[in-house]
Parts: sequence; structure tokens; C-alpha cells
Amino acid sequence: MRDYSYSEELLEWYDSHARAMPWRVGPADRKAGTMPNPYFVWLSEVMLQQTTVAAVRAYFVKFTETWPTVEDLAAAEDADVMAAWAGLGYYARARNLLKCARVVASEHGGVFPTTEDALLKLPGIGPYTAAAIASIAFDQPAVVMDGNVERVMARLFAESDPLPAVKPILKEHAARLTPAQRPGDHAQAVMDLGATICTPRNPACGICPLRPVCRAQDLGIAANLPAKTPKKPKPTRYGIAYLARDPDGAWLLETRPEKGLLGGMLGWPTTEWTEGDPAPAPPVDANWHDTGQEVRHTFTHFHLKLRLMRAETSGTPTRGAYLPAANFRPSDLPTVMRKAFDLARPVPDQD
Ligand code: ADE
Repeated sequence: MRDYSYSEELLEWYDSHARAMPWRVGPADRKAGTMPNPYFVWLSEVMLQQTTVAAVRAYFVKFTETWPTVEDLAAAEDADVMAAWAGLGYYARARNLLKCARVVASEHGGVFPTTEDALLKLPGIGPYTAAAIASIAFDQPAVVMDGNVERVMARLFAESDPLPAVKPILKEHAARLTPAQRPGDHAQAVMDLGATICTPRNPACGICPLRPVCRAQDLGIAANLPAKTPKKPKPTRYGIAYLARDPDGAWLLETRPEKGLLGGMLGWPTTEWTEGDPAPAPPVDANWHDTGQEVRHTFTHFHLKLRLMRAETSGTPTRGAYLPAANFRPSDLPTVMRKAFDLARPVPDQD
């Protein structure tokens, strides 16, 4: 049984409070008949997985200026796309993004499929992204579940069982509330509500359009929901990163293997990352200097501590290649490699 009783208040709130985003068609334009660009919706939704709207904006603008259509992106060089993604994290998304663009260009004539089922068949498009594109780009009543939506549902219905076990129940609630009219705006309204009012800490219940129907607010437990099963602490892994430069100022860098963490990204050669002491694995014979510096970075499943070694050498490397200084842009590096560069780079007057 569908229940639209909340959606009117929510859509009314969205009409006056929708966040402006470079990929979004706002509620007024949408009502006037403008449809979103499916390429923009897909690109933004892939970028927004695990990342905030604030972090994504500049990347989205850069991508769409460089590659205005999915066919332009499909024709891009892999290295250019990986470099443009550097800093956004979760690099498998960028590799899948390119694969997906190429399938849409070559097998769908550059036109995104419109149903959830057909979207799910594309590389890198999982249940969340398929539902988001079907809903936002094509105004279908797909059920879009992300962390914001889960939190709003857990609170509206005071579901106190912990995540992730409670997810199917939250999805049932979200499905029941998805209206036949303006389902795309409804989905975006729930996400905006979760991002701006129904926030994880200190929810602004006083100004929430759903306050009159929110059970958790009624019970005074909104801020405690959703409950979460405690996570296992993350282990720490250790490694050594080797930063070598030749006398002309070229840096020794390698493109990491496609499979695995930071796959396809440019980086400093490193040892394996292990929970014990790493086995040294310098990429070139040289007089390596231990800088005593250490980069700390946290990935999804572990913390990493990378010790930095430096060398000046023109020796032939066993892996990687010297990249002339003129072609080296630190912004092309993923964040952990960028941190290593920022820590170990020469201070101009002293080196
Ligand atoms: N987070 C992820 N996708 C979003 C969207 N389309 N609107 C608002 N927040 C989002």
C-alpha cells in the first residue's frame, strides 16, 4: 500500500529549499517541463557515492567542461580521466565510469537506457545509481536508498534496530512513500532533507517539514537513530614510498595495476602494504635517504602509514618511469600520493 501523506509537505518544502547543484534541474524548471541531462545525472551520482556535494561540485564542472557528452567521455584517454578524478577517491569508480561511457556510446548510441533493469546492466551501475538515474533523469518511481534516505526513514518510523540489518525495512518505508507524481523531485527532496535538516548529529527538527509525522521526534530519539552495529576497528598497514628524481628534475612514477587499491592511478613506487614491517622494494638502485617522514592516510578498511625515502638518481628503474617535470602535475595524484609529495618535496631554496 502506498502512502503519499508525507510527500506533499516534502515536495512543498523542496519547491522552496532545493539545493542548487550544477547537474540538477530545479523544481521550477522541472515543473515547466525541463528534463535533466541523463549524462549529468549519471556522472554526478557516480561522483556522489561516498563523497559530499561540496567535494563533487568542482570535479563535475571540470568533467563536463572537458567532456560535454557521454560520447566525448567515451573517447577520452584513460590516463586523462584518471588524472581528472585524482583526489575524489574510490578510484574503481573512475575506471567503471569510463567503461560505462564506452558501453553507452558503442552499444546504446550515446543514449542512456531509461529503466532500472537496463541501467543495472551497465558497468559500475549498482542498485543505488540505477534507481537514482531512473528517478531523477526519467522521473520513474524508483526507490532511491542512500545514507540520507535511510536516516530519514529510520527516524520517521522510529526504527530502532541497527543498520545494516534494518535496511530492508527502511527500503519498504521509502517505497511506500514514493509518490506517482514527481517521483524524481521526491527522491531529491528526501536526500536534501537528510543532508540539511535531518542530519546525523543535531538534526534541526524545529524547522523540519515532516516534524508533525515523525515518530522519532515524537519520542525524543531522533538524534539517536539510525542505530548502528559497532564496526570492527581498522587495522594499520605499513609501507615505504620511494620518491626519486633525476638530475633534470623528472620524477620516477608508476601507474598502479588496474586491479586493486588506487588501480590505474599514477603514484610513487611503494612496497607492499603489510600489517608488519614492509619488505624494502626500491624501484631503482640508488643512494636512498630515509627522510624520517611518514604519510598517514585512511582507506575504507585500514589505516596506512607510508615512510618516505628520497633519492637523486638517473639509474634505470625496475618499475615505473621518469616523468619530466613539465608533465608532472601533483593534482593528477590520488590523495595519499599527493600527501607524500607535499611532505617530501624539496623546499626550493634548500634543495
Ligand atoms: N546525494 C546524492 N545524490 C543526490 C542528489 N541527487 N540530490 C541530493 N543529494 C544527493
